[in-house]
Amino acid sequence: MIKILTIIGARPQIIKAAAVSRAIRNKFKNKINEVVVHTGQHYDNNMSQVFFDEMNIPKPCYNLNVGSDTHGKQTAAMLAGTEKILLKEKPKCILTYGDTNSTLASAVAATKLHIPVVHIEAGLRSFNKKMPEEINRITCDHASTLLFSPTLTGIKNLINEGFNPNNKPPFTIDNPKFFHCGDVMYDNTLYFAGVAEKKISILKKNNLRQNQYILATIHRDNNTDIPERLCAIFGAMNKISKHENIDIIIPLHPRTSKLMKKNLSAEIYDSIKNNKHIKIIPPVSFLEMLILEKHSKLIMTDSGGVQKESFFLKKPCIILRSETEWKELVEAGTCIVTDANEKNILNAYKYFKSAKKLKYPDIFGDGKAAEFICKEIIKAFS
Ligand code: UD1
Ligand code: UDP
Repeated sequence: MIKILTIIGARPQIIKAAAVSRAIRNKFKNKINEVVVHTGQHYDNNMSQVFFDEMNIPKPCYNLNVGSDTHGKQTAAMLAGTEKILLKEKPKCILTYGDTNSTLASAVAATKLHIPVVHIEAGLRSFNKKMPEEINRITCDHASTLLFSPTLTGIKNLINEGFNPNNKPPFTIDNPKFFHCGDVMYDNTLYFAGVAEKKISILKKNNLRQNQYILATIHRDNNTDIPERLCAIFGAMNKISKHENIDIIIPLHPRTSKLMKKNLSAEIYDSIKNNKHIKIIPPVSFLEMLILEKHSKLIMTDSGGVQKESFFLKKPCIILRSETEWKELVEAGTCIVTDANEKNILNAYKYFKSAKKLKYPDIFGDGKAAEFICKEIIKAFS
């Protein structure tokens, strides 16, 4: 039996972990013993617990309860807390996801104790080191022994950074192995798409008509914290909703909720508040989110995960950032990068309104990425 420690903390990591936990439970429970650690980076019920309940993720054995703080303090608390648990649990490896501060802390803590790191969602790059996530993902990749990349672009990035495709076992931090394996988020979308229909009432609850509303999410720090950027995004949404007579539903991240009043101009803030088409609601559960995505006309987002889900569910998407790690989506022509620029956002909306049928090629695997990952973990650490 291989003991692995899964370390998660932020909403998207909890969601991604559901896929691997499900694969372990269904296919590998005699081979892998998973111990879940929650750093407590996200802690509101609708940012954390709701996913454990809805997606059947094992209850964390530990919760570090680090909460919110500056990057340094938050990461330091996670590092110290994770180290303690690693010393006690002595796992064969740790499993970490994506690019958050929880990812960074867990990778550094494990590496210093010579415990191998398995990184899921490896190789993604924005080539923008001002993004905290870029530093986190690069550091984690270079501290990892097994790296699982969802895309071929990710594989190319790793090779460009010196990772050797010809490494042979036994794999170590100095002799790492990378794999192109598909996306665990795609596994989840396929698995939960049918089940999600039981949450269809989210549409009625918000007076939304199928295929006649826009879904938007905003939480990226440079969008929430820079007033001009936040104003450009909300300004564009205000215009589109009014000119096109279309509803925009925004399940709003707590970071953004807390900064709206401070960082929006009084004019835009009041206009948004009085705009009956703009429906700002608290974060929703994963199944509710799948319903909102699936029945939308178009998605606008600065989220990495929501960009991809737009593609899985065949919806056009406006990316409210200056670049994306998910290059394939832009190349396929189903996503347009507009940055936080009002004019670009309006133009992208117009383009998609009259665009011919968009094509969504199969580039995120076969829905079995998590199984593949478990098999490779067993091979490497048995
Ligand atoms: C983090 C990740 C980001 C990821 C996002 C997913 C880092 C550096 N960033 O950003 O990559 O895309 O999660 O959602 O790790 N807050 C609450 N309740 C919560 C959690 C947060 O109110 O349960 C508020 C707090 O005011 C906090 C702010 O949101 O200061 C930001 O939270 P934090 O976890 O630091 O970063 P995110 O913006 O969520
Ligand atoms: N999500 C959710 N409820 C919401 C908003 C997002 O369940 O109210 C899900 C979304 O479907 C996706 C994931 O959260 O699976 C994306 O996380 P987030 O946008 O917080 O972070 P990112 O992917 O940008 O790191």
